[in-house]
Amino acid sequence: MDSIRQQATDRPDAGIWIEPFWNDTPIKTYLFDAFSVLLPAGEQFVISVVESSALRLPPTSTLAEQSRRFVAEERAHQRAHRLYNQQLEKQGFEVRKYEHGIEKDLDALRSKLSLNAQLSLAAAFEHVTAVTSRIALRDGGLLSTRVSPQTRLWRWHCAEEVAHQHVTTDLLQALGVPYWQRILYFLAASALMSFDVLRHLYGFARLDIARGRVSAKRMRQATGRLLLRDGANLALLAAGWAAYFLPLKALAAADCQ
Ligand SMILES: [Fe+2]
Ligand SMILES: [Fe+2]
Repeated sequence: MDSIRQQATDRPDAGIWIEPFWNDTPIKTYLFDAFSVLLPAGEQFVISVVESSALRLPPTSTLAEQSRRFVAEERAHQRAHRLYNQQLEKQGFEVRKYEHGIEKDLDALRSKLSLNAQLSLAAAFEHVTAVTSRIALRDGGLLSTRVSPQTRLWRWHCAEEVAHQHVTTDLLQALGVPYWQRILYFLAASALMSFDVLRHLYGFARLDIARGRVSAKRMRQATGRLLLRDGANLALLAAGWAAYFLPLKALAAADCQ
């Protein structure tokens, strides 16, 4: 992200500078940018929950060690996405406002919910993130094959999400969280994430159309292409999402494939 930052500040029109769409089309770019807005606060939530949950494990256990590594990785993602989101803010998008709203919502959940409920939410966030990451990384996936600071960052982040996704579900199992609770919070987390991503995506598109960066017609075409040409990606996304309804052992086996 440093090079993005450098470019933005080097340019004489830095305040209004807008780079071309880094993920090939406006809609795919907004999709990942919208996801990034959730990450600093979302990852903070997951970090706190995993740290608290790991305290209930023997400190020398494999899962306690994996939890510590998980937290270190999430902190690195958080730092990278804070910089990423600062760049979006510099491009004129109201990212800080969105971030504040998400921080407030997650703080409220943290203060009201039991640790098992928070862990259920965290595992659900991690599952949705890992499923999306798999679809981003596959050949013909949702991430552009062009090399840019954004695609490099997302490829690194997505690969670590896929690799560490088992940690929160292993914690659910270790702490004996019941199936109904895991699924209840999965449905809530899915609704929350979808609503927020779509809200941010809509806000980005509306601003870019208003300031002439993209036309409404091009947006409609790019959205239509996403739905038609990326049908396989969207079907895999839906199947990966639905796999969470499997028992944890079957889910772990499915994730390993
Ligand atoms: Fe992450
Ligand atoms: Fe993660």
